[in-house]
Amino acid sequence: MPSLSIHILSIALCLSSGFQQGYIASVLNQPYAQIEQFINSSWIERTGHPISDSTLHLLWSLLNVCFPIATIFGQFLAGWMCSQFGRKYTALIASFLYIPGALLCAAAKWCFPAFELLFVGRIIWSLANGVNTVNATVWIVECAPPQIRGRMAAMQEFFMALGSLLTQAVGVPFSTDELWPYNFLPNCAVVVVSMVMFAWVAESPQFIMEKYNDVDRARKALAQYHGVSEDDPSVESEMRICEQSIGKNKEKKKNTVGGIETNHTGMEIMFMPWRAKDQTSRLIRYCAWVGVMVKIAYVFTGARSLRGYSTFILYTLSNFTYSQATWLSFATGLLRLPFTLVPVFLVDRLGRRPLIVVSMLVSFVSILLMIVAIDINGEWKYATFIGLTVLLLINTCGIGSVSRFYAAELVPRNLLLSSVSTLTMFEALTKIGVEFAFYPTANVIGAQSLLLFLVPTGIFTVMCYLMCPETSRMTVNEVLNNVAAKKKMDVVFPM
Ligand SMILES: *[C@@H]1O[C@H](CO)[C@@H](O)[C@H](O)[C@H]1NC(C)=O
Repeated sequence: MPSLSIHILSIALCLSSGFQQGYIASVLNQPYAQIEQFINSSWIERTGHPISDSTLHLLWSLLNVCFPIATIFGQFLAGWMCSQFGRKYTALIASFLYIPGALLCAAAKWCFPAFELLFVGRIIWSLANGVNTVNATVWIVECAPPQIRGRMAAMQEFFMALGSLLTQAVGVPFSTDELWPYNFLPNCAVVVVSMVMFAWVAESPQFIMEKYNDVDRARKALAQYHGVSEDDPSVESEMRICEQSIGKNKEKKKNTVGGIETNHTGMEIMFMPWRAKDQTSRLIRYCAWVGVMVKIAYVFTGARSLRGYSTFILYTLSNFTYSQATWLSFATGLLRLPFTLVPVFLVDRLGRRPLIVVSMLVSFVSILLMIVAIDINGEWKYATFIGLTVLLLINTCGIGSVSRFYAAELVPRNLLLSSVSTLTMFEALTKIGVEFAFYPTANVIGAQSLLLFLVPTGIFTVMCYLMCPETSRMTVNEVLNNVAAKKKMDVVFPM
């Protein structure tokens, strides 16, 4: 039975990372026309003439991609903050930053014509979110029993949908020229709640050992997290794991993975095929790139980018009124909430492969439906809405959730540790590029901008069908052996 501390910790971590991520991603969705008009008015106040369409759309795209860009910097900052201030103070500092982040966004309106504050606020907010996301992973792994760690991923997903639902709900009444700053404010209450929870839980025992080498304090923290008394044998064994991992960090890492020996580093295997050309390296390289492909395929389904533009698609591209568009965006947000729980049951039962391929295929059809419906216009507006909703929901329970952990199931983790961050960067840059390109393009060429998603989705559907191995209920070595057999490669990994 997990302790009260663990429950409070995991809820606080979800509120400070998943929830905030959902909130930031969707907060500009509904009041987009009002905030754009505000930028326009500020521009007129400063320069005496209205802003040009293309400049406005470019600024708007920039404001949106501030989020993924600043998140990357936050993730880099997190490692340093974690080891410098500890998990608890990192969480408190980063969560506190959410408050000026949200307030500055709102203050832009009250400090007319300082629309730059929107950018400053959003950058601070996203930076803090990047820090909290990494910190959450580190902290929970160090303190929680394994069964909670698994549940945590699903919970983060749920809280992300919750965060985006809250902002879609307040967006319905507050999407007006006067009230739009209020879209940002409810967040501050959530931040205060999560900070109180963080203040209550203990620092991670791992950090206590690393920084102070204080065995008594670490033991106390562990006992609190595990809900047992300090002289419990389970605390003793966890302490040993703690001490071991500190010792292990200092040892030099060898290139051995579950009995697999290679003479090459992770970077060589991934990016230098001319150097690492033995069969083992070739196989691992193939699997690693399939993992990356699935992540990039998800970016190109457009589910993540279009989530932040649903009101725009329904109002500007389709024929809904503004208030209909905000209500429908809210409805989609509401539907997403139960859908985030579906993968928890399906992922192991159906397997990864069917989920990936089917959700890609359905995404393709939904995007096609949206293009046709927007082009025909008029009575077809409901088809646009259905296409958009199906696209967002199928990805919530299909490739969107699988892509998070699929790559890790294909590749021996410790071998590729060095290249994982490079690969994450690949994905992040694709995401930023796609998100940045969509909005200005859509304003110029309308529905045809969705071809940006349709064509790659079509190609990736075929590639996923041909290349993705099943990984459900298998160890990495089993997966690698299956792929080797299929590709008739002469490599066998110990099981
Ligand atoms: C900016 O505001 C002016 C005056 O209200 C309006 O005529 C113009 O269409 C607006 N421009 C954009 C790009 O919205």
